[in-house]
Amino acid sequence: MTDRARDKDTVWSHAALPAFPPLAADHTTTVCIVGAGIVGLTTAYLLAKEGRGVIVVDDGLVGGGESGLTTAQLCNALDHRWTELAKLHSSKHLHLASASHSAAIDRIERIVQEEEIDCDFRRLPGYLFAAPGHSPEIIHAEVQAAHDAGLGLVKEVERAPLLDFDTGPAASFPDQGQFHVLRYLAGLARAVERLGGHIYTNAHVVEVDEESVPDHVLVKTDQGVTVRANEVVLATNTPFLPKISIHLKQAAYRSYVIALPVPSGSVFPALYWDTEDPFHYVRLANLDGKDGAETLLVVGGEDHKTGAADDTDQRHARLEAWTRERFPQAGPVRHRWSGEIMETVDGLAYIGRLKKESRVIVVTGDCGNGMTHGTIAGMIIDDLVHGRPNDWAEAYDPTRVNLRAGAVSTFMKENLSNAAQLTDWVTGGDITDVAELPPGAGAIMRRGLHKLAVYRDPRGQLHERSAVCPHLGCIVAWNAAERTWDCPCHGSRFECTGRVIHGPATADLKPVDAAAPPESEPGPVVLARTG
Ligand code: FES
Repeated sequence: MTDRARDKDTVWSHAALPAFPPLAADHTTTVCIVGAGIVGLTTAYLLAKEGRGVIVVDDGLVGGGESGLTTAQLCNALDHRWTELAKLHSSKHLHLASASHSAAIDRIERIVQEEEIDCDFRRLPGYLFAAPGHSPEIIHAEVQAAHDAGLGLVKEVERAPLLDFDTGPAASFPDQGQFHVLRYLAGLARAVERLGGHIYTNAHVVEVDEESVPDHVLVKTDQGVTVRANEVVLATNTPFLPKISIHLKQAAYRSYVIALPVPSGSVFPALYWDTEDPFHYVRLANLDGKDGAETLLVVGGEDHKTGAADDTDQRHARLEAWTRERFPQAGPVRHRWSGEIMETVDGLAYIGRLKKESRVIVVTGDCGNGMTHGTIAGMIIDDLVHGRPNDWAEAYDPTRVNLRAGAVSTFMKENLSNAAQLTDWVTGGDITDVAELPPGAGAIMRRGLHKLAVYRDPRGQLHERSAVCPHLGCIVAWNAAERTWDCPCHGSRFECTGRVIHGPATADLKPVDAAAPPESEPGPVVLARTG
Protein backbone atom coordinates (compact mmCIF):
# COMPACT_ATOMS: atom_id res chain seq x y z
CA MET A 1 0.00 0.00 0.00
CA THR A 2 2.97 2.29 0.17
CA ASP A 3 6.45 2.68 -1.20
CA ARG A 4 8.01 -0.13 0.78
CA ALA A 5 10.15 -1.50 -2.02
CA ARG A 6 12.16 1.69 -2.44
CA ASP A 7 13.33 1.42 1.18
CA LYS A 8 14.46 -2.16 0.75
CA ASP A 9 17.88 -3.43 -0.19
CA THR A 10 16.81 -5.41 -3.27
CA VAL A 11 18.55 -6.17 -6.56
CA TRP A 12 16.06 -3.98 -8.43
CA SER A 13 17.08 -0.39 -9.09
CA HIS A 14 14.26 2.15 -8.96
CA ALA A 15 16.24 4.57 -11.12
CA ALA A 16 14.30 3.84 -14.31
CA LEU A 17 10.83 4.25 -12.81
CA PRO A 18 8.88 7.19 -14.25
CA ALA A 19 7.29 9.71 -11.85
CA PHE A 20 3.55 10.34 -11.78
CA PRO A 21 1.50 13.18 -10.27
CA PRO A 22 -0.64 12.91 -7.14
CA LEU A 23 -4.41 12.68 -7.49
CA ALA A 24 -5.36 16.32 -7.00
CA ALA A 25 -8.93 16.50 -8.36
CA ASP A 26 -12.03 14.34 -8.84
CA HIS A 27 -12.13 12.21 -11.99
CA THR A 28 -14.56 9.99 -13.88
CA THR A 29 -13.39 6.98 -15.84
CA THR A 30 -14.46 3.56 -17.08
CA VAL A 31 -12.19 1.46 -14.88
CA CYS A 32 -10.34 2.61 -11.77
CA ILE A 33 -7.51 0.34 -10.68
CA VAL A 34 -6.19 0.63 -7.13
CA GLY A 35 -2.55 -0.50 -7.04
CA ALA A 36 0.32 0.08 -9.48
CA GLY A 37 2.11 -3.26 -9.28
CA ILE A 38 2.10 -6.17 -11.73
CA VAL A 39 -1.68 -6.72 -11.44
CA GLY A 40 -2.70 -3.08 -11.72
CA LEU A 41 -0.40 -2.14 -14.57
CA THR A 42 -0.99 -5.32 -16.60
CA THR A 43 -4.74 -4.78 -16.27
CA ALA A 44 -4.46 -1.09 -17.14
CA TYR A 45 -2.27 -1.84 -20.14
CA LEU A 46 -4.56 -4.51 -21.60
CA LEU A 47 -7.68 -2.37 -21.07
CA ALA A 48 -6.09 0.80 -22.43
CA LYS A 49 -4.87 -1.14 -25.46
CA GLU A 50 -8.51 -1.87 -26.27
CA GLY A 51 -9.49 1.75 -25.82
CA ARG A 52 -10.99 1.61 -22.32
CA GLY A 53 -10.57 4.62 -20.07
CA VAL A 54 -8.39 3.66 -17.10
CA ILE A 55 -7.10 5.45 -14.05
CA VAL A 56 -4.53 3.76 -11.81
CA VAL A 57 -4.06 5.08 -8.27
CA ASP A 58 -1.47 3.92 -5.76
CA ASP A 59 -0.65 5.24 -2.32
CA GLY A 60 3.06 4.79 -2.99
CA LEU A 61 4.96 4.79 -6.26
CA VAL A 62 4.81 2.49 -9.26
CA GLY A 63 6.23 -0.89 -8.16
CA GLY A 64 6.45 0.39 -4.60
CA GLY A 65 4.57 -2.53 -3.04
CA GLU A 66 5.11 -6.26 -3.06
CA SER A 67 5.79 -6.42 -6.81
CA GLY A 68 9.08 -4.63 -6.18
CA LEU A 69 10.07 -7.23 -3.59
CA THR A 70 9.68 -10.33 -5.76
CA THR A 71 12.55 -12.29 -7.28
CA ALA A 72 10.56 -12.18 -10.55
CA GLN A 73 10.64 -15.83 -11.54
CA LEU A 74 8.13 -16.65 -14.28
CA CYS A 75 7.06 -20.28 -14.00
CA ASN A 76 4.45 -22.86 -14.66
CA ALA A 77 6.25 -24.96 -12.02
CA LEU A 78 4.02 -23.59 -9.29
CA ASP A 79 5.23 -23.07 -5.72
CA HIS A 80 2.60 -25.43 -4.35
CA ARG A 81 3.93 -28.14 -6.67
CA TRP A 82 1.72 -30.14 -8.98
CA THR A 83 1.63 -33.21 -6.70
CA GLU A 84 0.01 -31.09 -3.96
CA LEU A 85 -2.27 -29.17 -6.31
CA ALA A 86 -3.54 -32.51 -7.67
CA LYS A 87 -5.00 -33.22 -4.20
CA LEU A 88 -6.83 -29.89 -4.21
CA HIS A 89 -8.25 -29.46 -7.69
CA SER A 90 -10.07 -31.32 -10.44
CA SER A 91 -8.17 -32.39 -13.53
CA LYS A 92 -9.98 -29.65 -15.47
CA HIS A 93 -8.83 -26.91 -13.09
CA LEU A 94 -5.27 -28.27 -13.04
CA HIS A 95 -5.19 -27.99 -16.82
CA LEU A 96 -6.62 -24.46 -16.66
CA ALA A 97 -3.98 -23.51 -14.09
CA SER A 98 -1.04 -24.87 -16.08
CA ALA A 99 -2.32 -23.39 -19.34
CA SER A 100 -2.89 -19.97 -17.77
CA HIS A 101 0.57 -19.75 -16.19
CA SER A 102 2.21 -20.83 -19.45
CA ALA A 103 0.12 -18.25 -21.31
CA ALA A 104 1.10 -15.57 -18.79
CA ILE A 105 4.79 -16.10 -19.56
CA ASP A 106 3.95 -15.94 -23.27
CA ARG A 107 1.99 -12.72 -22.74
CA ILE A 108 4.80 -11.08 -20.80
CA GLU A 109 7.21 -12.03 -23.59
CA ARG A 110 4.84 -10.55 -26.17
CA ILE A 111 4.40 -7.31 -24.25
CA VAL A 112 8.18 -7.00 -23.84
CA GLN A 113 8.62 -7.39 -27.59
CA GLU A 114 5.72 -5.18 -28.70
CA GLU A 115 6.52 -2.39 -26.26
CA GLU A 116 10.29 -2.84 -26.63
CA ILE A 117 10.73 -2.98 -22.85
CA ASP A 118 14.38 -3.29 -21.88
CA CYS A 119 13.97 -5.55 -18.84
CA ASP A 120 16.37 -8.49 -19.31
CA PHE A 121 13.49 -10.84 -20.08
CA ARG A 122 14.73 -14.27 -20.98
CA ARG A 123 13.46 -17.78 -21.33
CA LEU A 124 15.28 -20.45 -19.37
CA PRO A 125 14.60 -23.86 -17.88
CA GLY A 126 13.68 -24.55 -14.26
CA TYR A 127 14.89 -27.46 -12.14
CA LEU A 128 13.24 -28.93 -9.06
CA PHE A 129 15.52 -31.19 -7.02
CA ALA A 130 15.14 -33.14 -3.78
CA ALA A 131 16.33 -31.60 -0.51
CA PRO A 132 18.78 -33.64 1.61
CA GLY A 133 16.98 -36.65 3.09
CA HIS A 134 14.13 -36.43 0.59
CA SER A 135 13.55 -39.38 -1.69
CA PRO A 136 14.14 -38.89 -5.42
CA GLU A 137 10.68 -40.43 -5.73
CA ILE A 138 9.34 -36.92 -4.99
CA ILE A 139 10.86 -35.79 -8.26
CA HIS A 140 9.44 -38.69 -10.18
CA ALA A 141 5.98 -38.00 -8.75
CA GLU A 142 6.23 -34.28 -9.59
CA VAL A 143 7.07 -35.05 -13.22
CA GLN A 144 4.05 -37.35 -13.41
CA ALA A 145 1.78 -34.77 -11.74
CA ALA A 146 3.00 -32.07 -14.15
CA HIS A 147 2.16 -34.35 -17.08
CA ASP A 148 -1.29 -34.98 -15.59
CA ALA A 149 -1.80 -31.21 -15.39
CA GLY A 150 -1.01 -30.85 -19.09
CA LEU A 151 2.71 -30.02 -18.94
CA GLY A 152 3.84 -32.89 -21.15
CA LEU A 153 7.33 -31.50 -21.80
CA VAL A 154 8.43 -31.69 -18.17
CA LYS A 155 10.98 -34.50 -17.79
CA GLU A 156 13.22 -36.11 -15.22
CA VAL A 157 16.96 -35.52 -15.67
CA GLU A 158 19.96 -37.00 -13.82
CA ARG A 159 20.84 -33.72 -12.17
CA ALA A 160 20.38 -29.98 -12.56
CA PRO A 161 23.17 -28.37 -14.64
CA LEU A 162 25.21 -27.01 -11.73
CA LEU A 163 28.97 -27.61 -11.73
CA ASP A 164 29.80 -27.64 -8.02
CA PHE A 165 26.57 -28.99 -6.69
CA ASP A 166 25.23 -32.43 -7.57
CA THR A 167 21.51 -31.99 -7.03
CA GLY A 168 20.66 -35.60 -7.85
CA PRO A 169 17.61 -36.32 -10.02
CA ALA A 170 15.70 -33.20 -11.01
CA ALA A 171 12.41 -32.35 -12.70
CA SER A 172 13.19 -30.16 -15.70
CA PHE A 173 10.54 -27.57 -16.63
CA PRO A 174 11.23 -26.00 -20.06
CA ASP A 175 10.37 -22.46 -21.15
CA GLN A 176 10.21 -20.74 -17.79
CA GLY A 177 11.27 -17.09 -17.64
CA GLN A 178 12.70 -14.24 -15.63
CA PHE A 179 12.98 -10.47 -15.94
CA HIS A 180 13.86 -7.26 -14.12
CA VAL A 181 10.50 -6.52 -12.57
CA LEU A 182 10.83 -2.77 -12.11
CA ARG A 183 12.07 -2.14 -15.63
CA TYR A 184 9.11 -4.19 -16.86
CA LEU A 185 6.68 -2.19 -14.72
CA ALA A 186 8.27 1.07 -15.90
CA GLY A 187 7.70 -0.03 -19.50
CA LEU A 188 4.10 -0.98 -18.78
CA ALA A 189 3.45 2.34 -17.05
CA ARG A 190 4.82 4.32 -19.99
CA ALA A 191 2.69 2.27 -22.37
CA VAL A 192 -0.44 2.88 -20.27
CA GLU A 193 0.09 6.63 -20.50
CA ARG A 194 0.83 6.49 -24.22
CA LEU A 195 -2.43 4.58 -24.72
CA GLY A 196 -4.42 7.28 -22.93
CA GLY A 197 -4.56 5.87 -19.40
CA HIS A 198 -3.65 7.92 -16.34
CA ILE A 199 -1.54 6.96 -13.33
CA TYR A 200 -1.60 8.84 -10.02
CA THR A 201 0.70 8.02 -7.13
CA ASN A 202 0.73 8.92 -3.44
CA ALA A 203 -3.06 8.63 -3.39
CA HIS A 204 -4.18 6.65 -0.35
CA VAL A 205 -7.57 5.05 -1.02
CA VAL A 206 -9.68 4.67 2.11
CA GLU A 207 -13.08 3.70 0.75
CA VAL A 208 -14.63 1.90 -2.20
CA ASP A 209 -18.34 2.74 -2.29
CA GLU A 210 -20.53 0.60 -4.54
CA GLU A 211 -23.83 1.68 -2.95
CA SER A 212 -24.23 5.45 -3.27
CA VAL A 213 -24.40 6.01 -7.03
CA PRO A 214 -26.28 3.59 -9.31
CA ASP A 215 -24.08 1.78 -11.86
CA HIS A 216 -20.93 3.39 -10.51
CA VAL A 217 -18.32 2.84 -7.85
CA LEU A 218 -16.76 5.72 -5.92
CA VAL A 219 -13.10 5.40 -4.97
CA LYS A 220 -12.30 7.88 -2.20
CA THR A 221 -8.88 8.96 -0.94
CA ASP A 222 -7.85 10.28 2.45
CA GLN A 223 -7.39 13.68 0.77
CA GLY A 224 -11.11 13.84 -0.03
CA VAL A 225 -10.63 13.25 -3.75
CA THR A 226 -12.94 10.80 -5.57
CA VAL A 227 -12.64 8.74 -8.74
CA ARG A 228 -16.02 7.72 -10.13
CA ALA A 229 -15.81 4.58 -12.27
CA ASN A 230 -18.01 1.97 -13.89
CA GLU A 231 -15.81 -0.77 -12.44
CA VAL A 232 -13.05 -0.93 -9.86
CA VAL A 233 -10.15 -3.37 -9.64
CA LEU A 234 -8.51 -3.87 -6.26
CA ALA A 235 -4.93 -4.73 -7.18
CA THR A 236 -3.46 -4.14 -3.74
CA ASN A 237 -1.88 -7.55 -2.95
CA THR A 238 -4.69 -8.13 -0.47
CA PRO A 239 -8.04 -6.35 -0.70
CA PHE A 240 -8.73 -3.75 1.98
CA LEU A 241 -12.52 -3.80 2.04
CA PRO A 242 -13.69 -4.39 5.61
CA LYS A 243 -16.76 -6.53 4.97
CA ILE A 244 -15.42 -9.35 2.85
CA SER A 245 -14.43 -12.80 4.05
CA ILE A 246 -11.71 -13.54 1.51
CA HIS A 247 -9.15 -12.98 4.29
CA LEU A 248 -10.39 -16.14 5.96
CA LYS A 249 -9.31 -18.20 2.94
CA GLN A 250 -5.72 -17.02 2.78
CA ALA A 251 -2.77 -16.30 5.06
CA ALA A 252 0.23 -14.00 4.81
CA TYR A 253 3.75 -15.44 4.84
CA ARG A 254 7.09 -13.65 4.86
CA SER A 255 9.87 -14.90 2.57
CA TYR A 256 13.56 -13.89 2.76
CA VAL A 257 16.05 -13.22 -0.03
CA ILE A 258 19.78 -12.59 -0.38
CA ALA A 259 21.84 -11.72 -3.48
CA LEU A 260 25.55 -12.46 -3.90
CA PRO A 261 27.92 -11.87 -6.84
CA VAL A 262 29.12 -14.92 -8.76
CA PRO A 263 31.75 -15.03 -11.53
CA SER A 264 30.15 -14.61 -14.93
CA GLY A 265 29.42 -18.01 -16.47
CA SER A 266 29.97 -19.96 -13.24
CA VAL A 267 26.27 -20.75 -12.73
CA PHE A 268 24.14 -22.09 -15.58
CA PRO A 269 21.27 -19.60 -16.15
CA ALA A 270 18.11 -21.34 -14.95
CA LEU A 271 15.59 -21.25 -12.15
CA TYR A 272 16.24 -23.70 -9.31
CA TRP A 273 14.03 -24.95 -6.49
CA ASP A 274 14.44 -27.65 -3.85
CA THR A 275 11.76 -29.62 -2.00
CA GLU A 276 12.57 -28.47 1.52
CA ASP A 277 9.68 -27.00 3.52
CA PRO A 278 9.95 -24.03 3.24
CA PHE A 279 11.75 -24.51 -0.05
CA HIS A 280 14.70 -22.57 -1.50
CA TYR A 281 14.44 -20.74 -4.80
CA VAL A 282 17.35 -19.51 -6.91
CA ARG A 283 17.92 -17.42 -10.04
CA LEU A 284 20.58 -15.17 -11.55
CA ALA A 285 20.10 -11.41 -11.98
CA ASN A 286 21.92 -8.72 -13.96
CA LEU A 287 22.75 -11.16 -16.72
CA ASP A 288 22.59 -8.26 -19.16
CA GLY A 289 25.26 -6.34 -17.23
CA LYS A 290 22.97 -3.41 -16.37
CA ASP A 291 22.35 -2.12 -12.83
CA GLY A 292 26.03 -2.77 -12.11
CA ALA A 293 28.40 -5.13 -13.85
CA GLU A 294 28.10 -7.98 -11.39
CA THR A 295 26.08 -11.09 -12.06
CA LEU A 296 24.14 -11.82 -8.90
CA LEU A 297 22.91 -15.11 -7.52
CA VAL A 298 19.50 -14.48 -5.92
CA VAL A 299 18.49 -17.02 -3.29
CA GLY A 300 15.21 -17.05 -1.35
CA GLY A 301 13.46 -19.13 1.29
CA GLU A 302 13.10 -19.37 5.09
CA ASP A 303 9.40 -18.44 4.88
CA HIS A 304 7.25 -18.11 7.99
CA LYS A 305 3.78 -16.88 8.76
CA THR A 306 3.78 -13.07 8.98
CA GLY A 307 4.15 -11.88 12.55
CA ALA A 308 5.06 -15.35 13.84
CA ALA A 309 8.86 -14.89 13.94
CA ASP A 310 11.27 -12.09 14.73
CA ASP A 311 14.63 -13.49 13.65
CA THR A 312 15.29 -11.95 10.24
CA ASP A 313 19.06 -11.88 10.72
CA GLN A 314 19.19 -15.59 11.51
CA ARG A 315 17.01 -16.41 8.52
CA HIS A 316 19.27 -14.43 6.17
CA ALA A 317 22.28 -16.13 7.79
CA ARG A 318 20.79 -19.59 7.20
CA LEU A 319 20.11 -18.66 3.57
CA GLU A 320 23.74 -17.59 3.20
CA ALA A 321 25.02 -20.85 4.76
CA TRP A 322 22.79 -22.88 2.43
CA THR A 323 24.11 -20.91 -0.54
CA ARG A 324 27.81 -21.17 0.35
CA GLU A 325 27.54 -24.94 0.71
CA ARG A 326 26.20 -25.26 -2.81
CA PHE A 327 27.73 -22.23 -4.59
CA PRO A 328 31.23 -21.85 -3.10
CA GLN A 329 32.13 -19.30 -5.79
CA ALA A 330 29.62 -16.77 -4.40
CA GLY A 331 31.06 -13.52 -3.04
CA PRO A 332 29.89 -11.42 -0.08
CA VAL A 333 26.17 -10.81 0.33
CA ARG A 334 25.27 -7.61 -1.54
CA HIS A 335 21.53 -7.39 -0.84
CA ARG A 336 19.14 -8.72 1.81
CA TRP A 337 15.40 -8.23 1.85
CA SER A 338 12.06 -9.91 2.46
CA GLY A 339 8.60 -9.81 0.92
CA GLU A 340 5.11 -10.96 1.70
CA ILE A 341 3.28 -13.85 0.04
CA MET A 342 -0.47 -14.41 0.29
CA GLU A 343 -1.11 -18.15 0.43
CA THR A 344 -4.62 -19.32 -0.41
CA VAL A 345 -6.03 -22.54 0.98
CA ASP A 346 -5.84 -24.28 -2.39
CA GLY A 347 -2.72 -22.82 -4.03
CA LEU A 348 -4.40 -20.72 -6.76
CA ALA A 349 -5.06 -16.98 -6.71
CA TYR A 350 -8.46 -15.34 -6.23
CA ILE A 351 -9.34 -13.27 -9.32
CA GLY A 352 -12.79 -11.97 -10.20
CA ARG A 353 -15.85 -10.08 -9.07
CA LEU A 354 -16.59 -9.94 -5.34
CA LYS A 355 -19.96 -11.42 -6.20
CA LYS A 356 -21.79 -12.03 -9.44
CA GLU A 357 -23.30 -8.57 -9.96
CA SER A 358 -20.57 -6.60 -8.24
CA ARG A 359 -18.67 -3.85 -10.02
CA VAL A 360 -15.69 -4.49 -7.75
CA ILE A 361 -13.08 -6.97 -8.95
CA VAL A 362 -10.49 -8.36 -6.55
CA VAL A 363 -7.11 -9.94 -7.14
CA THR A 364 -5.26 -11.56 -4.27
CA GLY A 365 -3.54 -14.80 -3.23
CA ASP A 366 -0.36 -14.67 -5.31
CA CYS A 367 0.81 -17.96 -3.70
CA GLY A 368 4.44 -17.11 -4.47
CA ASN A 369 3.75 -16.95 -8.21
CA GLY A 370 2.80 -13.30 -8.25
CA MET A 371 4.25 -12.37 -11.65
CA THR A 372 2.27 -15.00 -13.55
CA HIS A 373 -0.82 -14.81 -11.31
CA GLY A 374 -0.72 -11.01 -11.76
CA THR A 375 -0.54 -11.33 -15.53
CA ILE A 376 -3.31 -13.95 -15.56
CA ALA A 377 -5.39 -11.48 -13.55
CA GLY A 378 -4.88 -8.77 -16.16
CA MET A 379 -5.98 -11.14 -18.91
CA ILE A 380 -9.06 -12.38 -17.03
CA ILE A 381 -10.13 -8.86 -16.02
CA ASP A 382 -9.69 -7.61 -19.59
CA ASP A 383 -12.26 -10.23 -20.64
CA LEU A 384 -14.53 -9.57 -17.63
CA VAL A 385 -14.72 -5.86 -18.34
CA HIS A 386 -15.43 -6.49 -22.01
CA GLY A 387 -18.11 -9.07 -21.21
CA ARG A 388 -16.19 -11.83 -22.91
CA PRO A 389 -16.05 -15.40 -21.58
CA ASN A 390 -12.74 -16.48 -20.10
CA ASP A 391 -11.98 -20.19 -19.72
CA TRP A 392 -9.64 -19.69 -16.75
CA ALA A 393 -12.01 -17.55 -14.68
CA GLU A 394 -13.76 -20.45 -12.94
CA ALA A 395 -10.47 -21.86 -11.62
CA TYR A 396 -9.66 -18.48 -10.03
CA ASP A 397 -13.20 -17.50 -8.92
CA PRO A 398 -12.75 -15.60 -5.61
CA THR A 399 -16.12 -16.86 -4.34
CA ARG A 400 -15.06 -20.50 -4.62
CA VAL A 401 -15.16 -22.70 -1.56
CA ASN A 402 -12.79 -25.62 -1.94
CA LEU A 403 -14.05 -28.46 0.22
CA ARG A 404 -11.36 -30.98 -0.66
CA ALA A 405 -9.65 -32.35 2.43
CA GLY A 406 -6.32 -30.59 1.89
CA ALA A 407 -7.90 -27.17 1.44
CA VAL A 408 -10.17 -27.58 4.45
CA SER A 409 -7.31 -28.71 6.70
CA THR A 410 -5.21 -25.74 5.57
CA PHE A 411 -8.19 -23.47 6.22
CA MET A 412 -8.64 -24.94 9.71
CA LYS A 413 -4.94 -24.74 10.50
CA GLU A 414 -4.65 -21.09 9.44
CA ASN A 415 -7.80 -20.00 11.23
CA LEU A 416 -7.01 -21.94 14.40
CA SER A 417 -3.67 -20.18 14.28
CA ASN A 418 -5.51 -16.86 13.94
CA ALA A 419 -7.85 -17.79 16.77
CA ALA A 420 -4.78 -18.50 18.90
CA GLN A 421 -3.56 -14.96 18.17
CA LEU A 422 -6.75 -13.61 19.69
CA THR A 423 -5.76 -15.07 23.07
CA ASP A 424 -3.04 -12.43 22.98
CA TRP A 425 -5.73 -10.09 24.24
CA VAL A 426 -5.52 -11.69 27.69
CA THR A 427 -1.83 -12.55 27.93
CA GLY A 428 0.93 -10.29 29.21
CA GLY A 429 3.31 -8.38 26.97
CA ASP A 430 6.93 -8.73 25.78
CA ILE A 431 7.94 -6.17 28.42
CA THR A 432 6.37 -4.88 31.61
CA ASP A 433 8.00 -1.44 31.67
CA VAL A 434 9.03 0.92 28.86
CA ALA A 435 12.39 1.31 30.63
CA GLU A 436 13.25 -2.18 29.30
CA LEU A 437 13.11 -0.91 25.71
CA PRO A 438 16.43 0.15 24.09
CA PRO A 439 16.53 2.78 21.29
CA GLY A 440 15.41 1.40 17.91
CA ALA A 441 13.37 -1.41 19.45
CA GLY A 442 9.67 -2.14 19.80
CA ALA A 443 7.67 -4.44 22.07
CA ILE A 444 4.15 -5.24 23.14
CA MET A 445 3.25 -4.10 26.65
CA ARG A 446 0.10 -4.53 28.74
CA ARG A 447 -1.20 -1.46 30.52
CA GLY A 448 -4.42 -2.18 32.40
CA LEU A 449 -6.95 -3.50 29.88
CA HIS A 450 -4.94 -2.27 26.90
CA LYS A 451 -2.26 -3.91 24.83
CA LEU A 452 0.19 -1.30 23.55
CA ALA A 453 2.65 -1.36 20.66
CA VAL A 454 5.57 0.61 22.10
CA TYR A 455 8.50 1.79 19.98
CA ARG A 456 11.53 3.78 21.14
CA ASP A 457 13.13 5.66 18.25
CA PRO A 458 16.93 6.00 17.89
CA ARG A 459 16.82 9.39 19.67
CA GLY A 460 15.14 7.76 22.65
CA GLN A 461 11.64 9.14 22.14
CA LEU A 462 8.78 6.73 22.89
CA HIS A 463 5.90 6.13 20.45
CA GLU A 464 2.92 4.31 21.88
CA ARG A 465 0.00 3.02 19.82
CA SER A 466 -2.73 0.50 20.41
CA ALA A 467 -1.47 -3.01 19.58
CA VAL A 468 -4.91 -3.95 18.28
CA CYS A 469 -4.94 -4.46 14.51
CA PRO A 470 -7.72 -2.25 13.12
CA HIS A 471 -8.70 -4.95 10.62
CA LEU A 472 -10.27 -7.60 12.87
CA GLY A 473 -8.71 -7.06 16.25
CA CYS A 474 -5.69 -9.40 16.49
CA ILE A 475 -2.64 -8.22 18.42
CA VAL A 476 0.27 -7.13 16.22
CA ALA A 477 3.84 -8.38 16.74
CA TRP A 478 7.15 -6.47 16.50
CA ASN A 479 9.34 -7.24 13.49
CA ALA A 480 12.81 -6.13 14.60
CA ALA A 481 14.64 -6.30 11.28
CA GLU A 482 11.98 -4.48 9.27
CA ARG A 483 11.05 -2.21 12.22
CA THR A 484 7.39 -2.80 11.55
CA TRP A 485 4.37 -4.04 13.45
CA ASP A 486 3.05 -7.17 11.68
CA CYS A 487 -0.36 -8.71 12.23
CA PRO A 488 -0.18 -12.51 12.43
CA CYS A 489 -3.83 -12.98 11.47
CA HIS A 490 -4.17 -11.69 7.89
CA GLY A 491 -0.86 -9.97 7.26
CA SER A 492 -1.54 -6.26 7.80
CA ARG A 493 1.65 -4.32 8.51
CA PHE A 494 2.33 -0.95 10.09
CA GLU A 495 5.34 1.37 10.33
CA CYS A 496 7.07 1.50 13.71
CA THR A 497 5.06 4.62 14.51
CA GLY A 498 1.76 2.96 13.56
CA ARG A 499 1.06 4.10 9.96
CA VAL A 500 -0.54 1.33 7.91
CA ILE A 501 1.71 0.10 5.08
CA HIS A 502 -0.02 -3.13 4.00
CA GLY A 503 -3.65 -4.25 4.08
CA PRO A 504 -6.14 -5.64 4.61
CA ALA A 505 -6.18 -2.97 7.35
CA THR A 506 -6.75 0.50 5.93
CA ALA A 507 -6.36 2.47 9.14
CA ASP A 508 -3.28 3.17 11.26
CA LEU A 509 -2.80 1.65 14.71
CA LYS A 510 -4.89 3.84 16.99
CA PRO A 511 -3.42 6.36 19.39
CA VAL A 512 -3.35 5.00 22.93
CA ASP A 513 -6.12 7.32 24.14
CA ALA A 514 -8.45 5.93 21.50
CA ALA A 515 -7.41 2.33 22.11
CA ALA A 516 -10.14 0.03 23.26
CA PRO A 517 -11.09 -3.55 22.57
CA PRO A 518 -13.12 -3.80 19.33
CA GLU A 519 -16.87 -3.51 19.83
CA SER A 520 -17.22 -7.15 18.97
CA GLU A 521 -14.17 -9.31 19.17
CA PRO A 522 -13.80 -11.64 16.20
CA GLY A 523 -15.88 -14.75 16.67
CA PRO A 524 -15.17 -18.24 15.45
CA VAL A 525 -14.31 -18.47 11.80
CA VAL A 526 -16.77 -20.19 9.48
CA LEU A 527 -16.43 -21.26 5.88
CA ALA A 528 -18.15 -18.46 4.05
CA ARG A 529 -18.59 -17.31 0.52
CA THR A 530 -16.85 -14.09 -0.32
CA GLY A 531 -19.06 -11.07 -0.54
FE1 FES B 1 -6.76 -9.15 10.02
FE2 FES B 1 -4.92 -7.97 11.50
S1 FES B 1 -4.87 -8.33 9.40
S2 FES B 1 -6.78 -8.83 12.15
